[in-house]
Amino acid sequence: MCGIIGYRGTGKGPAIVIQGLKKLEYRGYDSWGIAVKSKDRIKVRKETGQIGAAKGLDATGDGSTAIGHTRWATHGNVSRENAHPHMSTDNKIAVVHNGIIDNYQELKTRLANYKFVSQTDTEVIPLLIKENMDKGHDFTTAVRLALNDLDGTFAIVAMHEDYDQMICAKKGSPLVIGVGDNEFFVASDSPAFVEHTRDAIILKDNDMAVIRDNIGIMNYVTGEDVQRDISRIDYSVEDAGKGDYEHFMLKEIHEQPDVVNRTIQGRISKKRTLLPEVDIDMKKVKRIVMVGCGTAYYACLVGEYMIESISGIRVETEYASEFRYRKPLVDRDTLVIAVTQSGETADTLAAIQEAKRKKAKTLSVVNVVGSSIARESDQVVYTRAGPEIGVASTKAFTSQLCVLYLLANMFAGKDPGKIASVGKLIGKILKDEKRIMEIADQYHLKNNFLYLGRGINFPIALEGALKLKEISYIHAEGQSAAEMKHGPIALIDNQMPCVFIAPKDSTYSKIVGNIEEVKARGGSVIAIATQGDEQMKKLADDVIFVPKEADEMLQPLLTVIPLQIIAYYIANYRNCEIDKPRNLAKSVTVE
Ligand code: M6R
Repeated sequence: MCGIIGYRGTGKGPAIVIQGLKKLEYRGYDSWGIAVKSKDRIKVRKETGQIGAAKGLDATGDGSTAIGHTRWATHGNVSRENAHPHMSTDNKIAVVHNGIIDNYQELKTRLANYKFVSQTDTEVIPLLIKENMDKGHDFTTAVRLALNDLDGTFAIVAMHEDYDQMICAKKGSPLVIGVGDNEFFVASDSPAFVEHTRDAIILKDNDMAVIRDNIGIMNYVTGEDVQRDISRIDYSVEDAGKGDYEHFMLKEIHEQPDVVNRTIQGRISKKRTLLPEVDIDMKKVKRIVMVGCGTAYYACLVGEYMIESISGIRVETEYASEFRYRKPLVDRDTLVIAVTQSGETADTLAAIQEAKRKKAKTLSVVNVVGSSIARESDQVVYTRAGPEIGVASTKAFTSQLCVLYLLANMFAGKDPGKIASVGKLIGKILKDEKRIMEIADQYHLKNNFLYLGRGINFPIALEGALKLKEISYIHAEGQSAAEMKHGPIALIDNQMPCVFIAPKDSTYSKIVGNIEEVKARGGSVIAIATQGDEQMKKLADDVIFVPKEADEMLQPLLTVIPLQIIAYYIANYRNCEIDKPRNLAKSVTVE
C-alpha cells in the first residue's frame, strides 16, 4: 500500500518520478506528491486524486534528485496536508514513506516542540531527523538515528536541501534500487523504473542506502556496511505496460494461456514433477496448513481439494489474518504453505512468521521475486506470472493453481502431465469473449448476484463473486450450492441472477438439482458448463461452455476464466475504474 519512488541522476528527476508514480499508482491512488531538489532548494507539489488526472503537471523542471509518493490513506483523511512528501518544520528535509509507524503517538509527544501539520504517522520521520540534526548530527547519522527510533513497518526515501544525496531504508515494506548509468532509482516495485534499467538491488530489512554518485549500504541498527548483489529483472518493459488493451486487467486475463505455460515450463518431465526448489521430506509431514488472503485464500481452498484428492495428505486452509491470532496448533510435523502474489501481504507474512516460531516447515507460493514472504519462508516456488498491475487478481490466481497442482502431484509422486494442455484450453475460452461480453451487457444493471458451485468449484464461486464486487461494486455472494437450502434460497427472485459453476464432474447431478430449485423460484441462471452439455443449454438462461478435456482437479483453471471476463465487462459497462477500484490497493501491507 502506497508507492514510493526516488531518483538521483542527470537532471530529469521530476519527469522520471512522475512517470514512475503513474506505474506505482496500483499501490494506492487517493493522493500523490513529489519533492524536487532544484538549485539547492526543495520544491514540493501535492494533490488529492489520481496523478493521471492532475492538470498543469510540470514535469519538465530540472532537478537531479527527486522523490515521489502515491498514497493509500491509513492515518488521516485524504487531503493535501496528509499527502506525502512530508517536510521538516524548516522545509529542508523531505520524506516519503510506505508502511505504518506503530509508535508515532509516543514520538509525537516527544517531538512536541515541533509543529505538526498533518494527521499522518509519517510526519514524525522528518521531524525526528530534524531533531537529530538540531543536536549537531549530519544528515546520514540523523536519518540512521531516526530509523532506530521507529517501531512498525516502513520503506522510506529522504532528501535534504543542503546535502547532495538521497537516503532510503526499509523494514517490513518492499524497496528496490534500480542501478542505471550514472543514475539510481529507488521504488516500492521495479515496474516504476524498468524502462530505464533492469539491474536492481533488492534491499533487505534494516538496510539503509546512501545514494550519491554511488551507493553505500549499511545495516542501520548495527552501523556495519553490507554488500547486496545486483540482480537482473526478468520481465520486460512490455510486460509492465498495458499494450493495446484498455485495462491491465483485460491484458492480464488474456495473458493466462502464456502464463500457465510459463509456470509449468521445465517443471514436468517424464511423468514427474520437477520442483528442485522444494526439498521437504513428506514422510515427516503429518498435515498441511494453507494460508492466504483474498484471491490467494481461494487458491488455497482449491489447493486443499487438489492436495487431499491427489496425495491423500490432510490439508486445512485458513485466512492468514485469522491464523496468527488463534494460537494455531502447528508444530514441526506441519507444513505451512503461504500463497501470495505480492509476497508482501502483512497478514500472510505474519502467519509465516508465526508458523516458523512454532517450528513448522514453511513453503511459499509467490509471484514477486525476492519479496518479504519469499525471503521469510524456508522454501519458495515462484509462480512466474509476471507483473500483475490490475488490482483484481487474475493471472496470479491461475498461476497459483498450477503450482498447487504440481505440488499435489509431487507430494503424491504422480504424473502431472495433464496440466500441459491447460494453456491451450484457456485460449479456447478466450475465443468466446464476445459472447461472454453480451451476457455481461444483459446483466450489468442488476444490483445483486449469487455465485454457486460445489466441490472443487465452490472456491471458484467465491472467487467469481469477489471479482465482481471488487471492480463493479455490485453486491455478490459466493456460496456452496449445497448450502442454498439452508438460507440463501430465500434471496431468489427474478432480480437475483445466479451464476452456477456446473461442469460435468462428480457433483454434476446435484448441482443440476440446485439449478432446478432456482428456476422454480423465478431466478435467472447463468451456467458455466462443459462443452456439449445439452441438458444445461435447456435448463439455464445463459450458458458459457468450457472445454471438456481437463479432468476434475484442473477444471477450476478453466471455470474461473469466464467469471473474470464477466466481472470485467460488467464493470466496464458500469464505467467503473477497473484497474484501480475505490478504496482498494494492490498489495495490502497493513493489517
Ligand atoms: O498479494 P497477495 O496475493 O497476498 O494479495 C492477497 C489479496 O489482497 C488479493 O488477492 C486481493 O484479494 C485481490 N484484490 C483480489 O482480486
